[in-house]
Amino acid sequence: MDIEQLKKEIARIEADAQTEIDRTETVDALRGLETRLVGKKGPLGSLIGAIKEYPPEQRGQVGQTVNAAKGRVQALVETRLRQLRSAASEAEARKVAQFDPTLPGPVEPMGAVHPVTAVQWEIERIFERMGFTVEQGPEMEEEYNNFEALNIPATHPARDMQDTFWLTNGKVLRTHTSPVQHRAMIKFGAPLRIIAPGRCFRYETLDASHENTFHQVEGLMVDKNISIPNLIAMAKTLLTEVMKREVEVRVRPGFFPFVEPGIEIDMNCEICGGSGCATCKHSGWIEILPAGMVHPNVLRAGRIDPEEYTGFAFGLGLTRLAMMKYGIRDIRVLNAGDIRPIVSPRRLGGPIVSEA
Ligand code: PHE
Repeated sequence: MDIEQLKKEIARIEADAQTEIDRTETVDALRGLETRLVGKKGPLGSLIGAIKEYPPEQRGQVGQTVNAAKGRVQALVETRLRQLRSAASEAEARKVAQFDPTLPGPVEPMGAVHPVTAVQWEIERIFERMGFTVEQGPEMEEEYNNFEALNIPATHPARDMQDTFWLTNGKVLRTHTSPVQHRAMIKFGAPLRIIAPGRCFRYETLDASHENTFHQVEGLMVDKNISIPNLIAMAKTLLTEVMKREVEVRVRPGFFPFVEPGIEIDMNCEICGGSGCATCKHSGWIEILPAGMVHPNVLRAGRIDPEEYTGFAFGLGLTRLAMMKYGIRDIRVLNAGDIRPIVSPRRLGGPIVSEA
């Protein structure tokens, strides 16, 4: 193009630039636009790039013309920049003028997941990785599922082990999560791997480690050739993963009508470190995981052939585990409405604010 055409082209570019610059609403947008307009790849930059297409004696004039245009575009940018800055400071000034210091300040959200729920979710993830599914059963349970199906007939003295809330409709508030064992066997048959976390109820005398409402996680694994070592290995893995440290366990015999043999897996008390305190009844150990090999009668009630299959079951004390994990000394604070800190000084490095 000749010099005349070039001048027209430049006029057009400047007019476009003006429109675009006026449209910017923020300093950042304007800076971006500026780079684009005056940059090498921009409309003016490419005119400079084409300078060698002119005869040598014209090149000086072309260069000057384009550079002068560049200067004018930059001046437009500066003008817009000043406008944007003063608009921003006016807006800021308006905000300050509108600020009402008598209004209450912004409130930080304070909600958090309950410690028992937090540990429950963690346990669900751990078992899901081991191929277990998470099952649920009703809190208001059939007497049959809570007792008979678990090898606890009506006349058996083992019923006295569980202080039951009986309902006027003949059902019970489940005393443990074990009825879900029966429900799962009927639902899935063998082989099977489930856990069933949930709320349980007992007509208890309350103290630092007993509540009328607490949480357990039932576990049931039925397959060929399941044995006690599988159970103990699973228990150690579980407790170690939840506590994030190597957990010491001790295994004692324990009686539950629905397992044979039955065992109690205890862990060393986190609150006192094993020296004895109210939470561990001064023994240094916490009963955390009653368990055993599923009794043949329970398998039969669940329509599984005990000649073909064996299984283990456990009833993890979820509430107790949460107490151990977070250093909560008294079970009663978990259901109380007092939301002041309940965590022991060993965890928080400060004095206890509230203990029920
Ligand atoms: N259901 C028993 C209880 O609550 C615990 C348990 C579950 C024991 C499974 C053995 C096997 O006391």
